[in-house]
Amino acid sequence: MMAIRELRYQGDEILRKKSKDVEEINEKIQILIDDMIETMHKYNGVGLAAVQVGILKKIIVIDLYDDNGPIVLINPVIVKTKGEQEVEEGCLSFPNEFGKVKRPAEVVAEYTDRDGKRMRVKAKELLAQAICHEVDHLNGELFVDKVIPGTLEYVEPDQKVEK
Ligand code: NI
Repeated sequence: MMAIRELRYQGDEILRKKSKDVEEINEKIQILIDDMIETMHKYNGVGLAAVQVGILKKIIVIDLYDDNGPIVLINPVIVKTKGEQEVEEGCLSFPNEFGKVKRPAEVVAEYTDRDGKRMRVKAKELLAQAICHEVDHLNGELFVDKVIPGTLEYVEPDQKVEK
């Protein structure tokens, strides 16, 4: 049974802490992953890191709402970056705030999937952006640290399309 977890928001000091490696992908981790996906979907997020639900473990989930479905990255490491893209970005821990940031145009990341298999993904555009944003969370870094000065905006909630 999946459950919505409580999100941690801007100002919560846990968001500044570093997450630890997942040593064993056990039942508890599988439940956490399912809950993270459910929580990300509930709030229409493209990505979510475990720290955002109060768990300091290196787990991120990403869903671009395409044919691939949700992607689960455990202990992810960005091993290569290429180029640069300037993108609009937000974060579920900063509701209704958006700003422009510079991200690599392409990244190669290694991670363990939820079946314990070590994987490698080459990502560009939105997926590259999402991986960088979520890996930053695992290091206690937030998009507002990188926002291009003067581009941070508050968007009224009723201007957003809710699912
Ligand atoms: Ni975020």
